[in-house]
Amino acid sequence: MTERNHQIVVRALPEDRLAETHFESRHVDREVPAEGQVLTRTLLLSIDPANRTWMQGATYRAPVRAGDVMSGFTLAEVVTSRDPRFRPGQIVECDNGWQEYACQPAGTLVPIEPVTELTHHLSVLGLTGLTAYFGLLEVGRPRPGETVLVSAAAGATGSVAGQIARIAGCRVVGLAGSEEKCQWLTGRLGFDAAINYKTASLSSALKEHCPDGIDVFFDNTGGDILEVALRRMNLGGRIVVCGVVSQYDTGSPAPGPRGVPGLIVTKRLRMEGFIVMDFFAQREVATRRLAGWLESGALIAREDILDGLDAAPRALVGLLAGENLGKRIVRVADAAGA
Ligand SMILES: NC(=O)c1ccc[n+]([C@@H]2O[C@H](COP(=O)([O-])OP(=O)(O)OC[C@H]3O[C@@H](n4cnc5c(N)ncnc54)[C@H](OP(=O)(O)O)[C@@H]3O)[C@@H](O)[C@H]2O)c1
Repeated sequence: MTERNHQIVVRALPEDRLAETHFESRHVDREVPAEGQVLTRTLLLSIDPANRTWMQGATYRAPVRAGDVMSGFTLAEVVTSRDPRFRPGQIVECDNGWQEYACQPAGTLVPIEPVTELTHHLSVLGLTGLTAYFGLLEVGRPRPGETVLVSAAAGATGSVAGQIARIAGCRVVGLAGSEEKCQWLTGRLGFDAAINYKTASLSSALKEHCPDGIDVFFDNTGGDILEVALRRMNLGGRIVVCGVVSQYDTGSPAPGPRGVPGLIVTKRLRMEGFIVMDFFAQREVATRRLAGWLESGALIAREDILDGLDAAPRALVGLLAGENLGKRIVRVADAAGA
């Protein structure tokens, strides 16, 4: 009998805000791997704001279209391998999308040797931690004593970026969307201050909590937050453009912020975007340093896990609404082992 595969497909692309009704569940026959391919079983699904941008059109990867299995980064287990480099039971990082099983070309799989809980390999030791690490240290280049501002600071990337800035000896200020998130940043993660951008006057709050100005802004949000922060940047400051989450879940992204390029000129700012894969040549060293901080307790991993593939649409809609604290993950299955 042919084995079945559970998938979540895009029923229709959103014209404005994303809703769970844009997705539907289906069951199809499971593919059989061809020579050079590996059949993998999805264990953990990374829920990322980027999932929504792929529905807006082409980015650094092909757009998602109506009828497609929803795209998504995953950790998976090898079920059957038709390539000598992989064996059943092995854990791999791959791009399975929102489905239980996928056949992948062996060359696209990244083997993972779990050194700690598997979920950490999707959060602090995975693409999330690496994004924070490279964005802050390679693009932002903070120096001890400088002030680092982080937006979406209680989310997956922001919470790691802020902790790395603290480890680097900086004063760290986070922006987040609730009192609970702000308390977690200062009380648990060691941020020097946190501002609820939904209730505070951001301009006054930045004056109060960044009295010496901002040297590095690790920006995950763009939009109005970036516009206000630009005015508080110091001469020679660096703006790390990690993402623009305030502009993803809409059919009409804002053209702003105002002040660009004028403030960039007068303040001699460097504003630089990056994609985590740009730094993959240094991935091993970065992962080792992140793992060391995790083991020593200098870095705290926080995951926000929902169970079952069917939870994926709810998980993404909720992420865009700011429900999550730390890295949002959907647990699709437990590893069966070799
Ligand atoms: N450059 C790269 O290679 C790369 C790689 C991975 C991720 N990223 C980017 O990093 C950013 C964070 O991603 P993540 O995976 O770590 O997600 P995340 O921060 O865990 O989740 C997104 C958070 O964004 C905040 N948010 C949503 N709408 C907002 C708005 N209108 N204004 C301000 N904040 C808003 C919410 O928190 P609040 O409650 O605080 O609003 C929400 O929890 C995204 O922009 C993403 O695209 C970039």
